[in-house]
Parts: sequence; C-alpha cells; structure tokens
Amino acid sequence: SWVMRARILSFDADPGDGDTPAEGSVVYHEDGALWWEAGRIRAVGSWQELTDRLPADVSVIDQRDKLVMPGFIDSHVHYVQLDIMASYGRQLLDWLNEYTFPEECRFAQREHAEQMADAFLDELMRVGTTTAQVFCSSHPNSVDAFFSASRRRDLCMLAGKVLMDRHAPPELTDDTLGGIHDTERLIAEWHGTGRLGYSVTPRFAPTSSREQLDAAGGLLRNDDSLWLQTHLSENLGELDWVAELFPDSRDYLEVYEKSHLVGPRSTFAHGIHLDDGMRRRLAERGANIAFCPSSNLFLGSGLFDRAAARDTRLNLTLASDIGAGTDLSGLATLKAGYQVGQLRGQPLTAWAGFHALTRGNAVSLSLDDRIGRLAPGMEADFVVLDLHASPLLARRMARCTSLAEELFTLMMLGDDRAVHETWAGGRLQHRRQP
Ligand code: GUN
Ligand code: FE
Repeated sequence: SWVMRARILSFDADPGDGDTPAEGSVVYHEDGALWWEAGRIRAVGSWQELTDRLPADVSVIDQRDKLVMPGFIDSHVHYVQLDIMASYGRQLLDWLNEYTFPEECRFAQREHAEQMADAFLDELMRVGTTTAQVFCSSHPNSVDAFFSASRRRDLCMLAGKVLMDRHAPPELTDDTLGGIHDTERLIAEWHGTGRLGYSVTPRFAPTSSREQLDAAGGLLRNDDSLWLQTHLSENLGELDWVAELFPDSRDYLEVYEKSHLVGPRSTFAHGIHLDDGMRRRLAERGANIAFCPSSNLFLGSGLFDRAAARDTRLNLTLASDIGAGTDLSGLATLKAGYQVGQLRGQPLTAWAGFHALTRGNAVSLSLDDRIGRLAPGMEADFVVLDLHASPLLARRMARCTSLAEELFTLMMLGDDRAVHETWAGGRLQHRRQP
C-alpha cells in the first residue's frame, strides 16, 4: 500500500454559490495524508493523526508542496472528435455536416479507432481527468476500441455507440433496429465489467426516428443500471428543426420524454434554450444537464443560465464537449464557465467550480458511491496539482493569502502544466515531464 503526504482537498457536500463554502462541505488537510491499497482508498486525514495507523511496509510518497484533489470528471465528451477540435467558422448544424460527420466516418476502421482511443486517454490523463462519459461513433468497433483501452488502464469510464437512423451520411446511419441490436451486444459485453458502464447514446432528436428513440427507451426500461446521453436545446436552428420533425411534441424535451429517455441516469448536453417548465421536468426526473461552456462559446450556441438551473433544482454537470469544446482540461472548462457566468452576472466561485468538477459530477452521474471524493472505500482516482508549475502561476500564487484565492487562480491561470501526476485505480497513469 501507498501513502501520499500532500495538501489534500475534497468535498463532502455542495459548497453552494456563496463566497464562503457551506458548513461541512469542504474537507481540507494542509499537511495531509492519503493512504490507498489495491485500487481503493484506506484512509484520509492529517499526516499527524494518520502516521500512527500506517503499516510498517507502506511506501511513502512525499509531495508536501503539491495539492491533491479527486480526479476530474467530464460528463460529456466525444473521443471521435479529437482531431477536429478548432474547426473554423460554423455553428452547430453546419459544423456537424462539414466537419463532424466526415471525421466520424473514419472510425469504421478498427485500427483508427484503437489509435484514437489511446490518443484520447493519453490526453485525458495529461489534464487530470480520470472519468468521462463518452460519445463514440456509430460503429460498434469504436466502442470496443474505447472500452478495451480504458480497461487496460483500469479507468472508470462511461461510453456508448451513437444511434442515428436518419439525416446523416449513409456510412454513419443505422438500420433502425440494427443499431439497437448492436447496442444490446455492446451492453452485454461491457456494461458493469470492471470499472466500465454503458451509456445508451441516441445522438439527438433530429438524427433518430421515433421508432429508434422508443427502442432506446426500451433498453433503459429493461435495465435501470444503464446510463443515457444525448444533446438537448443547444442551438436555435436545431430547435426549429426539431419542432418541424416532431410536430406532436410541445417542446424539445417532450420528444425525449415520450420515448422514456428522461431519468436519474440521463445526461442532456447543453440545455441553453430551456424554459423553467422544462427545467422542472428534468429536475423532477433527476436528470442532469451537462454545461459545456467552451463548446457553447466556440459554436456561438449561447450563454447557459446557471442561476435558473439552481432555482429550479436542476442537476448540473460540467463538461468539455470536445470537439466543439476548445480544451479537454477541466481547469479550462472552469475558466470558460466563469467567463460565461460573468456575461450573465453569475460568476462561478472556485468552490462551486472544483466541487462540480469532482464530487458534483460524480453525484449527478450516480457514480458517487465509487468516485469523486477522497474518503475510505472510494476508488483511488486522484490528481496531484503543482500550483507553481509555471513562472507566472508561481508569481501569482505568491500573492494569494487563502485557499479560495489559490483555487480561483488555478482555475483561471492553470493548464496541463499544473497537472503534476494523475493516478487512477491506484496506479500512476501520468507524470509530467519537466
Ligand atoms: N448535437 C448533435 N451532435 C452533436 C455533436 O457532436 N456535438 C455537439 N456539440 N452538439 C451535437
Ligand atoms: Fe456533444
């Protein structure tokens, strides 16, 4: 077993949106110890109180100048879009047709999918993200490649095969029920094996027929341990198209409700253009909206209303949404979230931000019994941050007089250089080369 001596920060509960975190939400040890064994955390506490309890043969890793947090979680990301990040000049529907669909066609080849799965996981480890909910392409191959690579590294990952049976190139389009059968095969092979979970993945309403959406809902009704991921109300052109395609539904959300896709394990990416009625319907079902600030800025989709979500008790998660997002890093997602918040008069505090990136995402994704918090019995996924990783960061940190200021500085000025090490499943997954 191993013990790391470092500054240790984790959240037991939501700190709220105020400048000072809610009582009992933050667990912080200035001179702390994290002890783990066989992929699980044994104990967390102050170095003083823990040293007496450690076995004689424990390996000590001294990182006293570093800050340890739970591994970051990304609730919505497309691994198959890594190579089209930063494609210029379009909004959602044109971006999909001009860049995204042609790129996803490449994943028909298993070898390409394997290379990209590894490249994507390398990048995730570099930015300290240990768990993600991932869109693959419509090719079952792309899912096998992603889950195999994740299992080799012993990572906790959710993923699924994109379901599309219309309005996409023929190479990406399923036979309506063929896509469902492929999904059933993938669920049987991967869901619940090791640290992996299956997320049923209809791309969004315009690319699935009612029949395919209904069949996806049928899968969820048969097995309530499955996740669901899709997109909702991202762009005004998309909204018009959905209204035209589904005239029987009073709004976009009802298209999904009618097929029984809205439940406690459902993630709807974006949710920019919602009204309070829709927010409440999502909240009542325990579904979550993935807030993807860098993507929303890049595609010009709009400025997410976090206050309205909070007022209607809607669960939020935070996500990069690569390849529409401009950065895989959770720190960059927080920075974009802060900037979107400023433009709406809702600035994001560092407390709320780092809680969302760790424990908040774990709770909203129903993974909080396993990850998102540094506590006994939890799986040993954590990130070791270097707050002095660049000359500028070190200069600015020297001015900070509180943990809150350090965290805010980290979220605005930090990048992958601040990610000193990434550990998952109790294994060292990445160490930054100086
Ligand atoms: N809506 C449907 N597909 C996509 C996608 O790949 N990315 C984003 N951002 N929105 C979508
Ligand atoms: Fe997306």
